[in-house]
Amino acid sequence: PTIIFEQPDGAVTEVKVDEGGNIMRAAVSNGISGIIGECGGQAMCATCHVYVDPQAASGLPPVGEDEDEMLDCAAAERTEFSRLGCQVKLGGAVQRLRVNVPSDQV
Ligand code: FES
Repeated sequence: PTIIFEQPDGAVTEVKVDEGGNIMRAAVSNGISGIIGECGGQAMCATCHVYVDPQAASGLPPVGEDEDEMLDCAAAERTEFSRLGCQVKLGGAVQRLRVNVPSDQV
């Protein structure tokens, strides 16, 4: 699978992830600015907040309970396309996903 990260300034980085890999891990291991992953993927920090492509959002698994609570604490404004990067895995039907990095996180 492939994730395309778009920064607030429009800069775009495309990275490959392993099947089942999540957005946060892919960002951290590729040095994507603005995604920190402080809690290591436990849905406890919200430093991996991203906005997923509206067209792809409905094809993703629903927001989990812990994820929902943490998204309310994210630094940047929450929208209907907000997800915690560590909770969204790529693979299966989701082979390509575009996400925007919130500006308040950069
Ligand atoms: Fe902490 Fe995702 S890495 S909530």
